[in-house]
Parts: sequence; structure tokens; C-alpha cells
Amino acid sequence: MDRREFLRTAAAGCTVAASGSAISCGDAPAALTERTALAGPVGQNARRTGLTVEGDHFLLDGERFRIISGAIHYFRIHPDQWLDRLQRLRAMGLNTIETYVAWNFHQPTPSEADFSGWRDLGRFIRLAGSLGLKVVVRPGPYICAEWDFGGLPAWLLANSKIQYRCSDPEYERALDQWFDKLIPRLAPLQWSAGGPIIAVQIENEYGSFGNDQAHLKHIEGVLRRNGIDSLLFCSNGTADWMLRGGNLPGVLATANFSGDPTGDFDALRKFQPNGPLWCTEYWDGWFDHWGDNHNRTDPAETAANVDKMLAMGASVNLYMAAGSTNFGFWAGANYGPHYQSTITSYDYDSPIGEAGELTEKFTKLRAVIGKYAPLPTDPLPDLPPRLAPQTATMRSATTLFGSLDRLGHAVHRGAPVPMEQLGQAYGLIQYRTRIQGPRAKGKLTIQGLADWALAYLDGKFVGRLDRNTPSVGPDIAVAGESSQLDLLVDCHGRINFGPNNRDPKGINGNVLLHGQHALFGWDIWPLPLDNLDVLQFGAVPASFTGPTFYRASLTIPSTADGFLAFPNWQKGMVWLNGFLLGRYWDRGPQRRLYAPAPLWKAGRNDLVLLELHGAGSQIELHSGPDLG
Ligand code: GLA
Repeated sequence: MDRREFLRTAAAGCTVAASGSAISCGDAPAALTERTALAGPVGQNARRTGLTVEGDHFLLDGERFRIISGAIHYFRIHPDQWLDRLQRLRAMGLNTIETYVAWNFHQPTPSEADFSGWRDLGRFIRLAGSLGLKVVVRPGPYICAEWDFGGLPAWLLANSKIQYRCSDPEYERALDQWFDKLIPRLAPLQWSAGGPIIAVQIENEYGSFGNDQAHLKHIEGVLRRNGIDSLLFCSNGTADWMLRGGNLPGVLATANFSGDPTGDFDALRKFQPNGPLWCTEYWDGWFDHWGDNHNRTDPAETAANVDKMLAMGASVNLYMAAGSTNFGFWAGANYGPHYQSTITSYDYDSPIGEAGELTEKFTKLRAVIGKYAPLPTDPLPDLPPRLAPQTATMRSATTLFGSLDRLGHAVHRGAPVPMEQLGQAYGLIQYRTRIQGPRAKGKLTIQGLADWALAYLDGKFVGRLDRNTPSVGPDIAVAGESSQLDLLVDCHGRINFGPNNRDPKGINGNVLLHGQHALFGWDIWPLPLDNLDVLQFGAVPASFTGPTFYRASLTIPSTADGFLAFPNWQKGMVWLNGFLLGRYWDRGPQRRLYAPAPLWKAGRNDLVLLELHGAGSQIELHSGPDLG
């Protein structure tokens, strides 16, 4: 058996019979259901010494192994679609999948830890294993990932003194409590225990952020003490300071990059002269911010660069391999040089699209992988069915301001506080005060605004404020005895990358008139928008007077994937049968939101929009995406 054939079989997780002639690849049958998948090979291998390093290579159970992997986020894909997307990844020729674990997705409060339904990470990992895929887990606790607050829970922000991602005792206490719940669930799914997990990451791109080696050591300790015996690695950008800040002696260093691998692997080699080369995030696409153009990468170039890596004998994890969605309020944001929030789609221009599409990039990457590893022989999965186009007209409506007391309970505070101080994690937040008059015209500005505010004086719209232009605000005057000032704060994702990671939502400072005169005495309504059943809808108003919920319905013959568009609507969010699909915004680039099949019902489906700026009259259902 020559070297290339050896690598091809090892890379695909195939076993070679003692004679060296027979190859069995554990190919799963084409029409695999979840029941048959979960009854698959996990736990059946006898000799499990796991993933180890020998010279410049990996060994798995003592045999040469190369990781050809792709990133997929279970928290961004409806659980009824996990199997479908994993099958598509396998069809591309990958032998491994990689997922982050999003702490905030599992721990809504410090005392809870939810691993059920959509949060059943164990089921996701077992499903992958049952398809013959190995699994790399990146539990963070910080994950970046264009996910709200980089995966950290919002409740950490209730403590304004806590320092994240370092040896701060409060932070490490919170992370210990989380890992003591999470990691014992991962340990039995490791290779050594008959499961598919072969490697686990410590933190995430820590070197981009800081240099607290004791903190990395602490995380390593918590992983080990909770039973992780798999290979540990650190993954970082390849600048010298990133590699130095983000790695630990004795732990495998890996690299994240895009484009031609030569320079980045040279840098990694310089830092770590021996050991397998592993690109743990090969950015085969990129995410989008609201207001920017949709990012695309050239499929042929991407495939050529992956070819180059594989030809070098390197291992790779395609980030992302499966596109997915920032449902709910989960989309993150970046800062630099100003705040920019991430769109609802996390298609990422991945080889497998947000709705399971096998793209040109898929075909090209599959062909490249096929040069180094045997590809599954079963037919490629079909595109999941799509709904036929139709439109929906708004049937009823109710204003947000008229619904405040149904949606939340007001609390009184002297100065404004951000939502985390009130135990709120996501949604909008409304602030109301009275200003004594008469008062001459003065500029209204807000300190620590996150992220936009709609200002109303005595119920009349006076202007929009934006955290990126803190000195810009409307002039307001009080003619009579007093006026009521309302500020509805429209919050997008918390910053998930970089040093500006303390990003409480709402108002974290004072509301000023004349640039210096603070207004005190506020009623504050936390609006988590987690239960819209409380709303009382009435007739649709003739014209738009302010933030309003609109209701419509769509009747479909049977469930399938659909894409919702909002022509002439401006900015807001949309719920399908009570599930928040995410935010829409006429800024683009995204024009349609993915509404996956499992969220629909055969028959009548309920749609609710919360429009903040200006309403259209119809919603459109389309059969395909439009990411701009
Ligand atoms: C870094 C992070 C990832 C992700 C990518 C960009 O590599 O580690 O979580 O944010 O950038 O998509």
C-alpha cells in the first residue's frame, strides 16, 4: 500500500485488514433515518487509544490519521435537521466534524443548565459518530463565532466588576460551575470511551485577546479534572503575539487563517517546530454585517488552497462547512472602528448552504478531498423540499407602547440601567421619564447607548439615536409644565470579538440634555419578547405611528423550507408560530430570512412582525434565499 493510499484510507476513517488488501469504510446507507443512525458504530470499536501525535502526524489508535473536518453549529440548526446536515458533511468526504459549545445557549441563569431538545449536545455528537464521523469539540467557554457575547452568558454582565477571559476569580468560578455541568456529559462521548470525540480545544483564539497563561492552564485543569483524556489543542491566528499569547507548553498549537496556507503554516512551524500541521479554522467563506455587502469567496480558489494544505499532509477544519442561522437574538456583533451587528443568516458562503444547498464550493471541495480520501459512494443528498411562493397580508396589529405592561413589568430607577442589571438577557428595553418645563430647546444625547434608541416626546417621535454617533441627537423643548420622554432601545448582538467585549444592552450611563444635564427618575420596562401570547391584537392602523406588532397567516399544504421577505418594511423581527426567526432590516445585505421546514405546520401558520421604523403591507414567502 503506497503512502497516498495509506493517507486516503486513514483520512476517511477506514480500517485496513491485516493483509492490507481489504478496506472497509463503514459507509452509512443512503436512506439513513435518525433511528438507524443512532444505532450505528459508536461504542463498537475495541482498541481505542485515541488521537495522538507522532512526529509531524496524527495517529488514531496507533494508525496514521489526518483530520479532514468541517465546522457545523448545532445551536444554529434546528435539531430535526441535524442528521440531514451531518449527512451532507459526510457526503463531502469529511471524516470529522467540529462544533463549538455556546455557553449562553445552555445556561440562561447561573443555576440552570439545559441539555434537552435543541440543546441536546450529546444527541448531536452521537448522531455524528453514528455516521462514522469523528468529532472535535470546542467548548470555549468563550467561542467568538459571531454569536452573542462570544457565547458568554448575559448574566455575567450583571456584575460590572467581573473581568472576562482571565484569572478573575468570579469569572473562573462561573466557568468552573458551567464546565462541571458540561464536561461530564462530553467525557463519555470521547474516543477512549467508545464515542466519536477525538480532540478538545482550550478557550478560543486566546492569543488575539490576551496573555493570561494561568487562565488557559486553569481551563486545561477543569477539562482534565472532569474526565477529558482526548488530545487538547489551542487554536490561534498566526501573528507571533497571537501564537505566544494563546498557546500552552505541551498543548498542540494549531492555526486559523484563510487564503494561501503557506505563510500561515510557516509561522506555525516556526512557533512549533514539530507536530502535525492543523488549520483548525480554514475560513472558506465569511460572515456579513448589516449594511455591508454579502461576502463571497471564490470556490475554485478555496478548493485550490485546501488542496495545497492536504498535499502538504496537513489536517484541516473548514470553517464553516455547513451554513446555518442566527435565530432569535443570538447574532453577535463586532467593534472596530465602530459597532457592527451580524445579520440573521450564518450561511457564511459555506460549501453547504444555510438551507442545505450543495453549492459549487461543495462540489469543488469534494473533488479535492477525493484526491486524498475515498468518498462515500452513496448518492448525494437531494435538496430539501421548498415551499411555493405566496404573499400574506396583515390581518391585525397592536402597538408596542400600548402593550408595554403586557410585555413586561416596569421598575423604577434613579438613573437608567442596562437590561442585565434587571435580570434581562435579550430583547428590547424601554425607558420613560418626565422632564419639568418650561424648558428651552436642548440636544438629547445618551451615554452608553446599546445600540439604537427611538425617542418620543409626549408620544410624538422626535428622533433616532445611534451608539456610533453619540454626540448626535434630536433637539427637544418642553413647552408646558412637563413632558414625557420615552426611549425605546433597539438592541442587537453583544460584541463577540476583541477588547470591547463588555457590551451591556440598553442604556449604561446617563441621558443628557444640553450635553451635560442628566435626567433622573426612570420607569424601565424590560421587553424580552419571549411570550407574544400576551398581546391583544386589533385592527391594522391606517398609518404607521410607532413600533407595532403585525399579525398575518400563511397556509401551506405540507411543511418544507421557506424564505420570508419584507418588501417596504424597514427594521424589526419576525416570529413564525411563536418562534423568533431573527431580525430583518432593509439595509441588507440579507433580503430574506430562512424559515426551516420543522418550524412550519401543514395548514395555517401564524406570523408576527415587530416593525420599529415603518411598515409595509405584505410579507412574501419565497422558495429560495436572497443574501444580497
Ligand atoms: C475566528 C473565531 C471564530 C469566528 C471566525 C470568523 O477565527 O475563532 O469563532 O469568529 O473568526 O468567522
